[in-house]
Amino acid sequence: MKKTALVTGAEGFVGSHLVKFLQTKGWSVIGSYLHGSVSFPELPNLRFTPCDLGNGQRITQILARYEPTHIFHLGAQSLPTVSWADPVTTFQSNVMGSLYLFEAARHMKRRPVIVSACSSAEYGNVPASAIPVTEEQHLRPLHPYGISKVCLDLLAREYFLDYNIPAVIIRLFNGHPVFEGDTNHFAHRLTALGKRQLAAESSFWEQSVQALSKILTAREQPA
Ligand SMILES: NC(=O)c1ccc[n+]([C@@H]2O[C@H](COP(=O)([O-])OP(=O)(O)OC[C@H]3O[C@@H](n4cnc5c(N)ncnc54)[C@H](O)[C@@H]3O)[C@@H](O)[C@H]2O)c1
Repeated sequence: MKKTALVTGAEGFVGSHLVKFLQTKGWSVIGSYLHGSVSFPELPNLRFTPCDLGNGQRITQILARYEPTHIFHLGAQSLPTVSWADPVTTFQSNVMGSLYLFEAARHMKRRPVIVSACSSAEYGNVPASAIPVTEEQHLRPLHPYGISKVCLDLLAREYFLDYNIPAVIIRLFNGHPVFEGDTNHFAHRLTALGKRQLAAESSFWEQSVQALSKILTAREQPA
């Protein structure tokens, strides 16, 4: 069966690379994005469609139309600082948006694998003695963004246990590029760090995409 991926947050830092990565691997790819004014690459078997994750009907419509075999759920309000200023919008995108996605997937005839981008922010402050962090570490997020990712984490678990949806979560740790123009606080901090660290951080998307791909491959191997 041909693999069809829906990538939410396809205009984002990781998503924009993931759609191209999957396309070069021969997947049919649909990238969903929030804003209208983004330019996308024109490549075979890669198309883009607008979708606000806060719009459950739209998500249902997209899943019914494209019937993805895999969903890479990266779309999110991804900034802790913004989540303090606007926790409601953050929860609408990250929690309700994720719930709409899992609900729509549960009603599909063939339920897709859903890979969700969770976050190290779920752990909160970790004592030095607990580093490197393992998945057994308590989840004690320090801001609404981190809490929203704990919700996604638990939603994925629930939909796996209750509805047998093949759900995979990956807790990504921080890394962000320097964008031209619009940027975020990670990028500002990185800019202050100097070019060497920036070069290292710019490979973050490669590591993220490789990790997503490897986890998926492992998930698909028979137990
Ligand atoms: N980059 C990191 O350091 C890092 C670390 C941990 C977790 N993550 C998570 O990984 C995922 C990808 O990260 P990223 O760095 O590419 O983030 P990003 O902010 O660059 O991309 C996320 C995209 O989601 C979109 N989005 C926001 N609200 C939306 C909504 N309501 N509906 C649809 N789309 C919406 C944004 O427009 C954005 O383009 C995110 O879920 C993020 O929380 C990233």
